[in-house]
Amino acid sequence: MIQARNLRKRFGDVLAVDDLSLDVEEGEVYGLLGPNGAGKTTTIHMLVGLLHPERGEVTLAGQGAPEEPETRRILGVAPQALSLYDELTGRENLKFIGSLYGLHGEALNRRVAWALDFAQLEEKARQPVATYSGGMKRRLNLVAALLHRPRVLFLDEPTVGVDAQSRHHLLEQVRALADEGCTVLLTTHAMEEAERICDRVAIMDHGRLLALDTVPNLIAAHGGAAKVTAELRSAVPAGCSLPGPIDGQTLSFTSRDPLQDLLALSRKGVDLGGFHVERPDLEAVFLELTGRRLRD
Ligand SMILES: Nc1ncnc2c1ncn2[C@@H]1O[C@H](COP(=O)(O)OP(=O)(O)O)[C@@H](O)[C@H]1O
Ligand SMILES: [Mg+2]
Repeated sequence: MIQARNLRKRFGDVLAVDDLSLDVEEGEVYGLLGPNGAGKTTTIHMLVGLLHPERGEVTLAGQGAPEEPETRRILGVAPQALSLYDELTGRENLKFIGSLYGLHGEALNRRVAWALDFAQLEEKARQPVATYSGGMKRRLNLVAALLHRPRVLFLDEPTVGVDAQSRHHLLEQVRALADEGCTVLLTTHAMEEAERICDRVAIMDHGRLLALDTVPNLIAAHGGAAKVTAELRSAVPAGCSLPGPIDGQTLSFTSRDPLQDLLALSRKGVDLGGFHVERPDLEAVFLELTGRRLRD
């Protein structure tokens, strides 16, 4: 549904996007995960035709380049920099944006009503956007991109400034759109989001895609071992070898198969009380691939 081949974009000395190719399937939620400055926004801008790549090409819906009017019509874009008018109300913003998409009359009113409901902003609909919280603006920015029922949706950092509870709801809604057949490409630097709703995640840094797969596959391939700590209720049997050091009553070790290793210890007569397993996550994947942390 979204196909990019060898995209490249430079700003002065900065190679923002470097030979990037990607394929997003219909109905998929595809996450571009990377720290600030990785090149995510620049990539989206090229995918939607806001920036012309220096090299490479983009094809959407098997139709053509995003600049073509036929293709534009099926695109929805919720930009990282909010595209709302602060002095207009929520409803006025939606009516204006809807009219730019060619909606008018009853059809426009129906879509605006749907959007206000979807964003849970009906009660604020008559207030100027300047009075909205960050999360409300983000939600309005999202539904503004949905008015014309796009088949391909681009969301650039859709949850920045959104509180934890609304974030959960917003992600569920994005997932629901995809389940109805909308193709979604979203960027984020929050790994929990990528883990929660993306079918596949591309890890991006310094303008390049470093890995692409489902979250479980990425973790299995690059996440490394889990960290296990176990409480010992009594002295370790003489001659029993342990997988890691003991500090007081606490045994620590790393493991690719924590349950098997704990069972093996128990079989050797080690008297285990509680234990704690810290599984590798996308943060560990990112660290392994780049040597850096996602959040710095
Ligand atoms: N318009 C611009 N002019 C100059 N440099 C830019 C511009 N847009 C982005 N950059 C640079 O390109 C790199 C990638 O930026 P961006 O695509 O915004 O990353 P991300 O969205 O992952 O945070 C950064 O180093 C950024 O400073
Ligand atoms: Mg960005």
